[in-house]
Amino acid sequence: MPDLDRMEAIVSLAKQRGFIFPSAEIYGGFRSTYDYGPLGVLMLRNVRDAWWNFMVQQRANVVGIEAAILSSPKIWEASGHLAGFTDPLVDCRKCGSRWREDQIEGVCPNCGSTDLTEARDFNLMFRTFVGPVADDASVAYLRPETAQGMFVNFPLVQRALRLKPPFGIAQLGKSFRNEITPGNFVFRTREFDQMEMEFFTPPELADRYFQYWVSERYEWYRTLGIPADELRLRPHDPDELSHYSKGTVDIEYLFPWGFGELEGIANRGTYDLNAHATYSGADMTYFDPQTNARYLPSVIEPAGGVTRAMMAFLLSAFDRDEVGGEERTVLRLSPLLAPYTVAVLPLSRKPELQGVADSVFSSLAMAFSCDFDVTQSIGRRYRRQDEIGTPFCVTVDFDTLDDKAVTVRDRDTTAQVRVPINEVVSYLQQQLASTSRPIATSFG
Ligand code: GAP
Repeated sequence: MPDLDRMEAIVSLAKQRGFIFPSAEIYGGFRSTYDYGPLGVLMLRNVRDAWWNFMVQQRANVVGIEAAILSSPKIWEASGHLAGFTDPLVDCRKCGSRWREDQIEGVCPNCGSTDLTEARDFNLMFRTFVGPVADDASVAYLRPETAQGMFVNFPLVQRALRLKPPFGIAQLGKSFRNEITPGNFVFRTREFDQMEMEFFTPPELADRYFQYWVSERYEWYRTLGIPADELRLRPHDPDELSHYSKGTVDIEYLFPWGFGELEGIANRGTYDLNAHATYSGADMTYFDPQTNARYLPSVIEPAGGVTRAMMAFLLSAFDRDEVGGEERTVLRLSPLLAPYTVAVLPLSRKPELQGVADSVFSSLAMAFSCDFDVTQSIGRRYRRQDEIGTPFCVTVDFDTLDDKAVTVRDRDTTAQVRVPINEVVSYLQQQLASTSRPIATSFG
């Protein structure tokens, strides 16, 4: 199990090595907000790409969209978010701090007082004004989920691509929630990245597709490196279901403080299409020309968080072992997720190595995410690459000038092999071909 020490080590490594920084640190930070540094953006891209590849690219019946973050407030009226996207909030009368009632069991975590106000509903959506006048007519909200972009665009996407249910619409992007108690690093933040897909199916297939997507999504996390004993599936009790859901299964990860949600797979039935049809007056049905039937498709939704998944991948990958009698820290990230696939390390700064090292870097960088490091001893540089999860290091040394070959070192085994420069790209491609990749399975 990832323990609290591992959590501390990851938070520290993330900051020291440029994955995740506290936002606005020079001003003392900003309320559990984080910025993603050079390695963080590379890894975030990899998480998004792994999701997109598995959910969209590998499937003929799933397409993508990118909807606006700020759009009509009528969307949130219809979706139920304006009325119901709330957390119960209490104030401590002694110290004035504010908490989520369901998280504190009647005692203020700040001062220990039990003198708390009655709970009141607090809407989690961020409100803003669109245009130059800040009045009721110009109120808009930052989207609290990407999902509604798929629902409101359902008729346009369906017609534009002449899609027939079952089909899915997928989206990656930022969502915003004014969380009362953000925390646990990037587990719960007010601004975060979601990866969501709405799968529109004939109602009679909804239950089977629900099971199908639970299993697909579970395997995605497993294949990208999360061990089975750090994952579990948890069906929601009927009283904890969201207002739109007929059934939800959470994929939970064993965070250092216990199991927590990574992703929810919900059977949303016809709730959303129905609501938007009612509020907008638009026809949200699908007409099947083969059967002449017109119906509202049911929706199965796998909804995950990119930033939360990244944190889980980092925690699971963190390891310490011994190499050559020395302890090393190593991130055993899937090569699909590691910020850099390969690092080029010239043995010395001597000018005669420079040209050849530059040209090795240029040819590798065409094919892979590639780092270049010429500082400190080669041993220290290997450790630095291990610590950020780089699967391969390519060392350019003085023999390279004669034999036109480089040394390729493997992160996990630390084994080294000599490979001709003109074969190093294909050698690495071959090594990477054995990496486990999430593969879409067919429904049936
Ligand atoms: N459309 C359904 C929906 O948004 P959700 O369970 O509220 O469902 C889906 O969110 C996923 O988004 C969660 O499983 C989590 O991974 C991520 N997520 C939600 N709120 C978050 C927050 N405040 N910070 C980071 N990730 C969050």
